Amino acid sequence: MSSATDGAGPRFVDKVAIVTGGGSGLGEATAVRLGSEGAHVAVLDIRPEAAEKTVARITEAGGLAHSREVDVSDPASVRRVVADVATEVGRPQVLVNCAGVGQFDLSEEVAIETWNRTIAVNLTGTFLMCQAVLPYLLDGGGTIVNIASNSGLQGIPYAAAYAASKGGVILLTRSLASEYSGRGVRINAVAPGGITTPLLENFVFPPGADPTRMPRGSRVPHAHPDEIASLVAYIASDEARFMVGSVVSMDGGLTA
Ligand SMILES: NC(=O)c1ccc[n+]([C@@H]2O[C@H](COP(=O)([O-])OP(=O)(O)OC[C@H]3O[C@@H](n4cnc5c(N)ncnc54)[C@H](O)[C@@H]3O)[C@@H](O)[C@H]2O)c1
Repeated sequence: MSSATDGAGPRFVDKVAIVTGGGSGLGEATAVRLGSEGAHVAVLDIRPEAAEKTVARITEAGGLAHSREVDVSDPASVRRVVADVATEVGRPQVLVNCAGVGQFDLSEEVAIETWNRTIAVNLTGTFLMCQAVLPYLLDGGGTIVNIASNSGLQGIPYAAAYAASKGGVILLTRSLASEYSGRGVRINAVAPGGITTPLLENFVFPPGADPTRMPRGSRVPHAHPDEIASLVAYIASDEARFMVGSVVSMDGGLTA
C-alpha cells in the first residue's frame, strides 16, 4: 500500500480514526490521508452513499475503512454511532470534526431555521462528537482536531451564523484543550479558508449583497482539500505532541 508519510513512516498504524463529514471535501481528503497512513478510518456522514464512496477510495488503495451514517446535530445519533464504532472497529484514538454547513444570507433576512441548523451542525455537532468520543480518548490517550474557519477569526459579511458557529468552535476547542490537557488528550483546531469543495459553491451572494465588503473583496485564494488534510494529519499525529489548544490558520493570507 502506498503511504503519504512526509518521509517519516506511516503515523496512524493500529489507530482507529473517526472523521465526520467524511463523504466530501476536506473530510474525504482527511479520511483518505489518515487511511493512507495506516489508520482504520470510520467515515461518518449524514449522506451514507457519500461516506461509502470515501471508504471505497481508502480500501481500493489497500487501507482499512468503514462508513457510518450520522447526523452530528442529533445527540442520540452521535452516541449510537460512536458506541458502534468503538465496539465494531475499536477504541477511537483520533477524532476529526469536519462536518459542516454554511451559506450567505442578508442578516436582516436570514431564516431562523438556517441560523439554528448552522449552529446545530457546526458548533453543537462538534461538541456532541467531542463529548461522545472523549471517554475513549481518556482511556489510553488520543487527539481531536476540530475544523474551524477563517470565518471564526474575522467578521464575514452575510455569514453571521456561519462565522458565529466557527468562532464558537475555536473557543470550544480551547476550552476543551485546557480542561483535558495533561490527561493524555490533545485538542486543537485548524482554521482553513477557501478550499475548493462543494461547500464553497454554496456561498452565493444574495440579491442586495455587496461582494466588495468581503475581507479581500472578490479575491479569495483557493486550496486543494489535500493541502489542508496534510496539516490535519500532522496535528493528529504524535509529531505534534506539544501542540495543545492551538488554532492553526491555513488560508492563503485571508486573515494575515
Ligand atoms: N470549503 C471551504 O472553503 C472551507 C473553509 C473553511 C472551513 N471549512 C470547513 O471545513 C469543513 C468541511 O467542509 P467542506 O468544505 O469539505 O464541505 P463539504 O460540503 O464538501 O463537506 C461537508 C460534509 O459534511 C456533511 N454533513 C453536513 N451536515 C452533516 C451532519 N449534520 N452530520 C454529518 N455530516 C454532515 C456533508 O454531507 C458533507 O459530506 C466544514 O466544517 C467547513 O465549515 C471549509
